[in-house]
Amino acid sequence: MTIRLLPPNLVNRIAAGEVVERPASAVKELVENVLDAEATRVEVMLGEGGQSLIAVTDDGGGMGPEELMLAVERHATSKLPDEDLAHIRTLGFRGEALPSIGAVARLRLTSRRRDADAAWSLAVEGGAKGAPSPAAHPPGTRVEVRDLFFATPARLKFMKSTRSELAATRDVVERLAMAHPAVSFTLADEGRTILKLPAVSGDAEGARAERLAAVLGREFAAASLAINAAREGMVLSGRAGLPTYNRATATGQYLFVNGRPVRDKLLNGAVRAAYQDVLARDRHAVVALFLDVPAEEVDVNVHPAKAEVRFRDAGMVRGLIIGALRHALAAAGHRTAAQDLPSSFATGPYTSAPFENRPTQSTLRLIERAQRPYEPVGGTHYQGLAEAAAEFIGANPQATRAESEPVELPNADQPLGVARAQVHETYIVAQTGDGIVIVDQHAAHERLVFERIQTALGNGGVARQGLLLPEIVELDESAAARILARAAELAALGLAVEPFGPGAVVVRETPALLGECDIQGLVRDLADQLAEWDEALALKDRLADVCATMACHGSVRAGRRLDLAEMNALLRQMEATPRSGQCGHGRPTWIELKLADIERLFGRR
Ligand SMILES: Nc1ncnc2c1ncn2[C@@H]1O[C@H](COP(=O)(O)OP(=O)(O)OP(=O)(O)O)[C@@H](O)[C@H]1O
Ligand SMILES: [Mg+2]
Repeated sequence: MTIRLLPPNLVNRIAAGEVVERPASAVKELVENVLDAEATRVEVMLGEGGQSLIAVTDDGGGMGPEELMLAVERHATSKLPDEDLAHIRTLGFRGEALPSIGAVARLRLTSRRRDADAAWSLAVEGGAKGAPSPAAHPPGTRVEVRDLFFATPARLKFMKSTRSELAATRDVVERLAMAHPAVSFTLADEGRTILKLPAVSGDAEGARAERLAAVLGREFAAASLAINAAREGMVLSGRAGLPTYNRATATGQYLFVNGRPVRDKLLNGAVRAAYQDVLARDRHAVVALFLDVPAEEVDVNVHPAKAEVRFRDAGMVRGLIIGALRHALAAAGHRTAAQDLPSSFATGPYTSAPFENRPTQSTLRLIERAQRPYEPVGGTHYQGLAEAAAEFIGANPQATRAESEPVELPNADQPLGVARAQVHETYIVAQTGDGIVIVDQHAAHERLVFERIQTALGNGGVARQGLLLPEIVELDESAAARILARAAELAALGLAVEPFGPGAVVVRETPALLGECDIQGLVRDLADQLAEWDEALALKDRLADVCATMACHGSVRAGRRLDLAEMNALLRQMEATPRSGQCGHGRPTWIELKLADIERLFGRR
């Protein structure tokens, strides 16, 4: 085989494969260029979600005819004046974006410098560059990309639906907008406005808070804390959601390094670590964090779409984030996002997170002491234990007997026994003929919901219960669209949703077997999850996950106080349901301790 140098056209197409993966990535490159050109306004107009047209207009510095010719050449950039890759302050630096887009689409640039009295236009089609010609345009630049990937049919085939391209594009524009509150952003598809964010003036922190509220919603603004911390030249600012304002996925975590939106495992991991004591493992915090570090501390040249960065001292960055978030969360004490939580939730800092079920300090001490080998030193051991027990019971009134009714004894056909108490608003303790059973009420309910929905689907559909008052759920437009696109499938699962103006849906019926349920939370979580799941997959193929989400918002979820009748009803349903011993994710739903085991633990045997 002969080795040969590839022609520039082919080189550009290969590079394009990495730089522009889909319409959203082309929009990202074009809007980044606008921000680097110090514009105050950017308008993005799409046709068919960007597949037929992407037009980006700005009022930035503009380009003259010679600059236009250079701008579409590979490795031509105005952003590295001193060949110093270690001090990049602009979003672009490679000189790759425009030539890559020009190689796979029909590209036209029209631009006028601020100091010029005429505009120029230049076209590149599938890599073939034309000559600049005079044009009419106000100061600033308009970049039009038509028929993206027409020159690379293989890539064209992999294009997703208009809806998912639009959602990805909206996400890209929102992220850039969060970092640049002084610039106004508009995004429209087929003439329909999808996003309109006016420029915000004022001090940096106030402007940022206002832009965040415009993008993430007023609810986030109210349920979040300001973050401000600094360490050795690094500054962290932004807002962090209260633990009670949590989400089913990490899609609500927005992270920026020197004004650049990034996806970074290190940063996400730091957020997770900071919230780990106040949030259940399967829930995610919502944060918008802006890290500003000296340019030499971070390498931005590590990812083809500039979406990742590398830090010189990753440990310090992690420490700064964890420290700042923990500090803010601790200072916030027990504020919760929702006011309608049962009052027992709000008794101590962060026992308020709905899925919080970690052992408290006094329980841990009890367990630790019980595990210590017996030490007969003047009875102090027993005394300590008694104190700890008193502390435990005193601090956890729900750990005492639920009701003082006469004790029923379990029949032979009740292997899960008779409920005696609920502890930590999460576990049911039941007495059996020869031991005790502890049920994880949330896991058990999840399994029951799954089994019953599956059976009901086989028998013609899930029974629904109409709501007295239909409930309106405000979402963003793409989330509402995702839910509505699945309306028929959701109806089959018992959840009836209909459109309710832009960005909202109305729920009229819920699955009867869920009982009273938190509709807002349920719809929001489903919308989050739908964004992550493959569009081609039917909801029935993700039934375990859908049911888990439904169960999460049903009446028996963890953190709900149940009375004895409700507890016994749950136990009886479990006995009647096949495979109720495991929740949908394979964790056990109950465990049993035989009296013999308990006696052995106490050295009676
Ligand atoms: N909207 C715009 N306004 C003014 N100048 C622009 C605009 N878009 C591009 N340019 C000029 O064209 C050059 C090439 O743009 P291109 O996006 O291809 O590369 P880059 O931004 O320098 O680097 P990167 O490939 O990392 O984005 C830029 O350096 C800039 O000088
Ligand atoms: Mg660029």
